[in-house]
Amino acid sequence: MHKFVIEGGSKLSGSVTPSGNKNEALPALFACLLTDKPVTLKRMSRIGDVLTVCQILNGIGVKTEWLDDETLVMDASKANSHKPDPNLCMKVRASILMLAPLLTRFGKVELALPGGDVIGARRIDTHWEGIEALGGQLSLEKVITGTLKRAVGTEFFLDEPSVTATENLLLMAVRAEGQTILFNAASEPHVGGLCNLFNGMGAKISGIGTNKIIIDGVSELQGTVHTIGPDFMEVGSFLCLGAIGGGKVRVEKVNTDDMRYPLKVLAKLGLNTTSGADWIEIDGTKELKMSKDIGGRVGSVYSGPWPAYPTDLMSVAIVAATQSKGTVIFFEKMFEGRMFFTDNLMRMGANIVLCDPHRIVVTGASQLYSMHMSSPDVRAGMALVMAALVAKGTSEINNIYQIERGYNNIDKKLEALGARIKRTQA
Ligand code: EPU
Repeated sequence: MHKFVIEGGSKLSGSVTPSGNKNEALPALFACLLTDKPVTLKRMSRIGDVLTVCQILNGIGVKTEWLDDETLVMDASKANSHKPDPNLCMKVRASILMLAPLLTRFGKVELALPGGDVIGARRIDTHWEGIEALGGQLSLEKVITGTLKRAVGTEFFLDEPSVTATENLLLMAVRAEGQTILFNAASEPHVGGLCNLFNGMGAKISGIGTNKIIIDGVSELQGTVHTIGPDFMEVGSFLCLGAIGGGKVRVEKVNTDDMRYPLKVLAKLGLNTTSGADWIEIDGTKELKMSKDIGGRVGSVYSGPWPAYPTDLMSVAIVAATQSKGTVIFFEKMFEGRMFFTDNLMRMGANIVLCDPHRIVVTGASQLYSMHMSSPDVRAGMALVMAALVAKGTSEINNIYQIERGYNNIDKKLEALGARIKRTQA
């Protein structure tokens, strides 16, 4: 077990390059189960969740080979079991994405319920209904068991644009007989990334990046080389950090199109950015002041399915708001457990009112003071690191495996920007 020891108050400046998107990398690993040919994935992050998924896949006969720090070759030609290790599956949410590929490959599946961040109820009904609409038969006792004779394309309306449900249905529909049309599909960049990977493997998917995805099933898929897109959660985290770090931070090799809404939220919190073709810079040397809505009303930031503000970027924006003059309300519409980490910020000196599980009011700017804390989940953990970096004194953050599940070499990247952060034995 490791912890971060962080001495707050250093000026942060310089440039940083984000790793590949965790939430594109995880479904991409499972996509490899649908072909016997090797698939090479570039800009892969060696984060905790990726390593756990590789372990799960190794357990059912899939070969995984790192060619270098960011290139992973997957070979599922000898996959031999429809029953992945339940203990490993219970460690990651993304394990639910094995439902479709194992059914397609073996005609049957036995899968433990998924784990991952404890941030809300996280229903799987949309996955379930969609897979049954495509021909699967599922039942749940202690584990999910299922069978599939033949997947047949259909029109399916998702009752909510769930990211992983859309991905599970893509994983099923690419090799189904005939055409599938997904209505009210998730349109996050990582869903588009999975579609692009599939098309590289010979699938026929259109409507990529929209909420109506059309999949013409093919009988087999080939190997390919695919590059994972930059992690926009990491980009947003570095921009929020740069804004309060007292210097100028440039985030490079980003997809600026992914950042349209996050940049609007940053502007609302008084954080101004400049952008080029594939970089965004934030100037943290100026005093931050939140903007108000017309008529002098208190502004609000609320999360929603893409292209609205991503729920995964709420926690870092909240920390940025504690350092900006003014008042803002944050409304986390998706998960009912994601705001509770703010009690740590309150104890550090932030002026926050937790109205209910979904809404908080932040009034800034507040001086934060160091604290010993524990990371509750991956995004809240990153927010606590940020808070510790601007706090007076030395903070300790335990349970950092939660942060390292999603952020690659985060201590090294922060050190390069001037942060005083040490990773030590807890
Ligand atoms: N929801 C709504 N309204 C909607 C859509 C969803 O309220 O229109 C609710 C759902 O009921 C659910 C929650 O929002 O409680 C999340 O929904 P979704 O099913 O889309 O989440 P997921 O597929 O389980 C993925 C990411 C999460 C990310 C969410 C939302 C992966 C492996 N996980 O989860 O990532 O927060 O989408 O974008 O892709 C993270 O990386 O920290 C993380 C938790």
